[in-house]
Amino acid sequence: MSETTAPPLRIAIIGAGPAGFFAAASLLGQSATPVTVDLFDALPTPFGLVRFGVAPDHAKIKSVTRTFEKTAADPRFRFLGNVTVGRDVSRDELLSCYDRVLYTVGAQSDRKLGVEGEELDGSFSATEFVAWYNGHPDFADRTFDLSCSAVVIVGVGNVAMDVARILAKTPDELHGTDIAAHALDALRQSRIRDIYILARRGPAQAKFTNPEVKEFGELGSAVPQVIAAELELDEVSQAQADADKTTGRNIETLRSFIGRTAEGEQRRVHFRFCLSPTALLGQEGRLTGVRVEQNALTPNGSGDVSARGTGNHSELEAGLLFRSVGYKGTPLEGLPFDGRNGVIPNEGGRITQGADERPASGREYVAGWIKRGPSGVIGTNKPCAVESAEALLADAAATPAPAATGDIDALLAGRGVRVVTFEDWKRLDAAELEDGAAAGRPRIKLASRSAMLARLG
Ligand SMILES: Cc1cc2nc3c(=O)[nH]c(=O)nc-3n(C[C@H](O)[C@H](O)[C@H](O)COP(=O)(O)OP(=O)(O)OC[C@H]3O[C@@H](n4cnc5c(N)ncnc54)[C@H](O)[C@@H]3O)c2cc1C
Ligand SMILES: NC(=O)c1ccc[n+]([C@@H]2O[C@H](COP(=O)([O-])OP(=O)(O)OC[C@H]3O[C@@H](n4cnc5c(N)ncnc54)[C@H](OP(=O)(O)O)[C@@H]3O)[C@@H](O)[C@H]2O)c1
Repeated sequence: MSETTAPPLRIAIIGAGPAGFFAAASLLGQSATPVTVDLFDALPTPFGLVRFGVAPDHAKIKSVTRTFEKTAADPRFRFLGNVTVGRDVSRDELLSCYDRVLYTVGAQSDRKLGVEGEELDGSFSATEFVAWYNGHPDFADRTFDLSCSAVVIVGVGNVAMDVARILAKTPDELHGTDIAAHALDALRQSRIRDIYILARRGPAQAKFTNPEVKEFGELGSAVPQVIAAELELDEVSQAQADADKTTGRNIETLRSFIGRTAEGEQRRVHFRFCLSPTALLGQEGRLTGVRVEQNALTPNGSGDVSARGTGNHSELEAGLLFRSVGYKGTPLEGLPFDGRNGVIPNEGGRITQGADERPASGREYVAGWIKRGPSGVIGTNKPCAVESAEALLADAAATPAPAATGDIDALLAGRGVRVVTFEDWKRLDAAELEDGAAAGRPRIKLASRSAMLARLG
């Protein structure tokens, strides 16, 4: 009698960012349950925010892609790029083709300020600007008028630092990075002199990490500016600075900026604290400035402080504003969604029925920003993805479902979807590196889907 072996568990992962790759590595790295992994992405390129979020001048951080390439080399792994779930293939179709589905779609939108004038031309989200300068194909045709002299960035997280730094750097500093060619051209013409970074709370509550703020003291042609009185700490803030190394170092770094002066053509990067925008001002539909209110900090009783408006208003002139107050997840058709927090409701990665009462299938999982919300560095997604992968495998072992019989390749082929494989991506990667070398740059990103597909032939 011949021995029959069970077919491998067919797993689809949706979203080829860090969470998707870490989950794939975890699933393929165990031997108790034989698996195959198909990793989908809406874009023809893998790596999510490592390619389209991480700042172009922070090249070292992107070397994590080498780890992801090792996962992609596993014969049980396939990359199916250029496939949008919800458009090219539905949730139900995925469930008919795969035994288990893990969503790692990240946070595709952003939070609003909720103030008057937010829709003015010149008011943007950091999300759009970041995607534009990183060559995201859906944002390559955006235009940002950099002919104004002052720009305001709202929020003091690391994304705000990235945006401020890219605006502050000279074309020479940016030339040696993989910033999109269209962005480099536009930034060459920039007439921005003043960059205001507005924090609604104090320096001890800033979310940026220390190397990121320190960089502002080391720029080629931009100088950080602070107001000494804004760096004085109330009792709670002092306790936070004493208890947390990063906070303490941030205060030290900001204080080291006191008295720095800009000379000649140097740009000024102003770190301003305890200020909230209350209205964006405009003329003929275009942003001309921001009305800001001075805040006071009040202890909230749990070791932190809240910002309260003092009624003291002033105005800042600015032709551009980027709100950098957090990314936000968006719903996927058919799946439960927690609209308040912008996440898919889950318990340890298992999708649960949310308040909107859309039923969970019992075969679907989440990891990364769509599971936890939009915070955490690349590495934070690893334990998060491992937890979800382990939940998936435990469920598959405990409650084996009838094997999925649908054929995803036939389905996509029938719809005329040009699936981009990992081998295709390697060819695109080589083409970008080759174009970069010819221009004396590390890489020139192909910034449209049509250019990518044309290059593949
Ligand atoms: C601007 C910015 C800069 C950052 N810089 C750093 C840094 O320097 N260092 C650091 O450690 N961390 C950094 N981070 C954080 C880091 O990028 C995130 O922690 C991480 O990318 C989150 O991983 P994820 O896989 O959940 O989401 P993502 O990286 O966003 O990946 C989600 C993927 O899902 C795909 N997708 C979405 N919807 C669909 C769909 N319907 N069908 C198919 N595919 C879909 C997307 O195309 C994307 O590729 C940065 C974040 C931002 C926003
Ligand atoms: N170099 C890196 O390692 C790097 C680079 C980029 C991003 N990342 C990571 O990616 C994640 C996301 O970064 P992020 O910068 O988008 O988010 P973030 O770290 O959560 O920062 C958001 C900022 O927006 C402020 N904010 C929120 N709502 C506001 C409002 N209505 N008005 C004014 N300010 C408001 C917050 O202030 P409050 O604190 O007062 O709420 C905070 O300063 C973070 O974990 C970050 O570390 C890392």
